[in-house]
Amino acid sequence: MTDTELTRSQAYEESENLGRNTSDNPSMGEIIARRFSRRDLMRGALAVTAISVTVSPLALATAEKARAEADASAFRFREPPAGVDERHHVAEGYDADILIRWGDPVLPGAPAFDPKNQSAEAQAGQFGYNNDFLGYIPMPGAADPSAHGLLVVNHEYTNEELMFPGIQPQHTKDVRFKDMTKTLVDIEMMAHGGSVIEVRKVDGKWQVVPDSKYARRITAETEMAITGPAAGAERMKTSYDPEGRKVRGMLNNCAGGITPWGTWLTCEENFNGYFWGKADGHPEEAALKRYGVPGNSYNWGQHYDRFDIAKEPNESNRFGWVVEIDPLDPTSVPKKRTAMGRFKHEGAANIVNKDGRFVVYQGDDERFDYVYKFVTEGRVDPDNRAANADLLDRGTLYVARYDADGTGEWLPLVFGEGPLTEANGFASQADVVIEARRAADLLGATKMDRPEDVDANPQTDKVYVMLTNNTSRKGEQVDAANPRANNEFGHIIEMLPEGGDHGARKFTWEILVKCGDPSIAEVGATFSSATSKDGWFGMPDNCAIDSEGRLWVSTDGMSEKSTGRTDGLFAVDTEGAARGTSKLFFRCPAGAELCGPMPTPDLTTFFVAVQHPGDDGKDWSAFGRISTFDDPATRWPDFQDGMPPRPSIVAITRQGGGKIAG
Ligand code: FEO
Ligand code: CA
Ligand code: CA
Ligand code: CA
Repeated sequence: MTDTELTRSQAYEESENLGRNTSDNPSMGEIIARRFSRRDLMRGALAVTAISVTVSPLALATAEKARAEADASAFRFREPPAGVDERHHVAEGYDADILIRWGDPVLPGAPAFDPKNQSAEAQAGQFGYNNDFLGYIPMPGAADPSAHGLLVVNHEYTNEELMFPGIQPQHTKDVRFKDMTKTLVDIEMMAHGGSVIEVRKVDGKWQVVPDSKYARRITAETEMAITGPAAGAERMKTSYDPEGRKVRGMLNNCAGGITPWGTWLTCEENFNGYFWGKADGHPEEAALKRYGVPGNSYNWGQHYDRFDIAKEPNESNRFGWVVEIDPLDPTSVPKKRTAMGRFKHEGAANIVNKDGRFVVYQGDDERFDYVYKFVTEGRVDPDNRAANADLLDRGTLYVARYDADGTGEWLPLVFGEGPLTEANGFASQADVVIEARRAADLLGATKMDRPEDVDANPQTDKVYVMLTNNTSRKGEQVDAANPRANNEFGHIIEMLPEGGDHGARKFTWEILVKCGDPSIAEVGATFSSATSKDGWFGMPDNCAIDSEGRLWVSTDGMSEKSTGRTDGLFAVDTEGAARGTSKLFFRCPAGAELCGPMPTPDLTTFFVAVQHPGDDGKDWSAFGRISTFDDPATRWPDFQDGMPPRPSIVAITRQGGGKIAG
């Protein structure tokens, strides 16, 4: 495909190849056969596809086996059919209600959405675009913590052709942002960042509490503090901030996490795309190239000097971090926590370790990049919220190496240890965190197939890693943890820390499932034989572990063209006879990806985020052309003439009440 054929979201997928990992960390293709024979042979049906991709696993499985697997499933619901149309679909007996849409008022006094008369001022008070991560924080003191809380939402990026009347895709080589005036760029900047909304269940239906004192919009202009080892470093200083301690805005916030003390961890992912210019000849040329800076995916640098790397050479070092925000204090200053490293952060799911230390699992979403964890030095104080305020500024960042025998090791990114010395260009821990990718290269981390969410299950201590896909992996580059060349559909790795200790250096691992259509033998998918034709998926992205310890996976990248179905939310069994069984629970309208799956603590509600609806008009044969504001592939969720498709939050509940999938 040429870039002129790519939609904004597809261009994003392609851009995961920008910060090219040129390190020569090992490939282990020759060891795979040995690993499969040792581990997968014991795994019954899983071994069948791993070894003999010429025979369909469905054909091999007996009907009784499939029935036994289905009966053992921890999930009880009837799947909707997979497919593609203009609408969302949910399992039978459930309601999926729109809670809030792009443009709806968030701040008191914000105007109603007027799509043909947008302004930066209006957008700054309204719900932003492309809702990704969702975190639910029960309202302190609420009578029912699962019926009244704060919802925190990331606004990852903008799709100009779907947002603005009369605008065609602007990021392509031939157009090069020619219609992206400063007025439109200013709206885009206000549509990025995040929202805090207060939500409440009234008569069984969720509502946004209007004019809440907690309501907040974070944008690309919100002032933030820089904390941790990189704060004050030379490489963090700019003309706006000669001290290297404050920055305006957060960019491309994808997934995230909620801490046990009720703060929001929001993760800057493809920050490189907002920077403008050329890396060649820049004083930090090699470092920039390892991150794909400048990505030139937006033309903000034509209107604002700080995004032009020739004019403000250090500004890009101030993005690519995890940001901690206290939603209970709307005046609090968000903090970029640099101890957790700088890369294309997908998420920050976390767990309190048995010894009280706080552990944050993190994926760096780029082809051939790494899985990380951060372990705090201090311990979580469950009784004193204030004592945890700066816990994330001190600790150890580790990167994962997956060995072919099913074990692995977390390698510490500590200045002065191993290769992370002045001889290799690291003068301090600030350099190590700013160039975390290069530090991880030197440590010999395993190059992965685009790590997205990484989530720990507190009931089993197992850790799930979503590897979304990697079509750039060649046959000679496969390894035990990334065993498919041209990995179109991704896979999920399950890790178990040694002794159930999330601070441990050692772990064991295996592949939970290789994704894709199990009825096509060449795909090599390893879902259980109980998985229906509607239940399989590709491109796992976000995940959630519910309060019963069950795994839910949402996807990004499915379409009629790639998989014959839209993205959705899938229930995936991890234990017992049903292990590897997947069921479709909710599916998106055409062109959308599903993000932020977030159940309430009592499991009576599942909040999901539908991002970029109507994006891929060309990949849907019923539409077959570029989808725009004026001519969209779907007008979800309003279906009103003149109203564009709108990224929205959906609240899923069971008709008549009760637990989801119980
Ligand atoms: Fe924004 Fe890695 O998905
Ligand atoms: Ca996406
Ligand atoms: Ca994602
Ligand atoms: Ca993704």
